[in-house]
Amino acid sequence: MREVVIIGSGQTPVGEHWGKSLRHLGHDAIMAAMKDADISRPDALYVGNMLSGQLAGQEHLGALLADFVGLRGIEAMKVEAACGSGGAAVRVGVMAVASALADIVVVCGIEKMTDTGAAETTSGLATAADQEYEVSQGISFVGLNALLMRRYMHEYNVPDKAFAGFSINAHANGVNNPNAMFRSPISEAAYLRAGMICDPINLMDSSPVCDGAACVVLAAADRFPGRAKARVLASAVATDSLAVHDRDEPLFLRAAAESSRRAYAQARVMPNDIDLFEVHDAFSIMAALSLEAAGFAPQGAGWQLAADGEIGIAGRVPISTMGGLKARGHPVGATGVYQVVEVVQQLTGQAGANQVKGATIGMAQNIGGSGATVVTHILGAV
Ligand code: COA
Repeated sequence: MREVVIIGSGQTPVGEHWGKSLRHLGHDAIMAAMKDADISRPDALYVGNMLSGQLAGQEHLGALLADFVGLRGIEAMKVEAACGSGGAAVRVGVMAVASALADIVVVCGIEKMTDTGAAETTSGLATAADQEYEVSQGISFVGLNALLMRRYMHEYNVPDKAFAGFSINAHANGVNNPNAMFRSPISEAAYLRAGMICDPINLMDSSPVCDGAACVVLAAADRFPGRAKARVLASAVATDSLAVHDRDEPLFLRAAAESSRRAYAQARVMPNDIDLFEVHDAFSIMAALSLEAAGFAPQGAGWQLAADGEIGIAGRVPISTMGGLKARGHPVGATGVYQVVEVVQQLTGQAGANQVKGATIGMAQNIGGSGATVVTHILGAV
């Protein structure tokens, strides 16, 4: 296997991009990343996306975007793994370069969720769950996460305000990220006042519906000497049942644990070596469960890291350092690429006021569904 490095990255602000179509958003992120990498024609383009077919009536994003950005003719295709699509596309890009099938690959994550009404977007998001056994019973994706959060509160005897720290931290970090959707801090009082979406998940426990695109350029280290901005130390995917009720322990994200374990083994690091963790905080319960599965806290104690202030920029395990899914936003199929772009920002000292001092190893974990596909990347500074 060849060593894979990241030589460029780009992103659009996350928000409501009503004036731009999928192809325009993708164009902006891809051109920014290719300019950053100083390349004009990659060997392949992989596009992470979940909902374009359902919400825009548009599939076939690989060829669409390749053509629109002036790369007609190259290998290009879409990669789908629900909300983990972006991370999965990065994984496919890493495999292509590591295996020497390609020397240079562009990976773009892209999603547009705000052009449709709430009912359509919500039913699109529910396609991440098991249609036959979960969605047919009328449950939404937020509803599934609400069941997990309620169960967690019951099993570990934690009050709902125990989760406030996740949202407060994400919003505090979003303030300094020009690409974040939400750039205002929130207090614990604001968290407690927030309207209930699906009890016990309130508005501040939930990531928003939004649009955005992010892009990274991957290359073979030996073919592009001196051009690396970050090294890919590990790339791993693991899966679990789609349906939550099929799991022995619904509160243990087994695929996240396995994906993390494989990534730690590849990178030859332990959780203690990770300087920052871009966690999949689509809901605050997911942040708590991910911290536990990835080995940063024992089961039932993930929330404690937030309550004790350990997840801040200067904390023991800085998470959601540029606002996370909660405040930067969660354009679902793009999120995994945003996370990798943000780890690169941290490792190159480009994170501004949110810089984690001395960061040399960063981890990004992107989750599809309620834990059915988990993609983990560990990057190292050059
Ligand atoms: N956090 C904080 N504020 C939010 C927010 C969020 N997640 N979502 C919306 N808002 C704010 C908006 O900025 C807006 O504020 P304003 O009135 O000051 O302009 C207000 O709330 C209403 O926004 P709107 O877009 O009408 O929200 P909504 O009620 O239609 O939808 C949710 C809110 C939370 C229900 C929706 O964002 C949602 O379904 N989120 C979950 C998405 C999801 O499941 N993703 C997949 C996870 S893997």
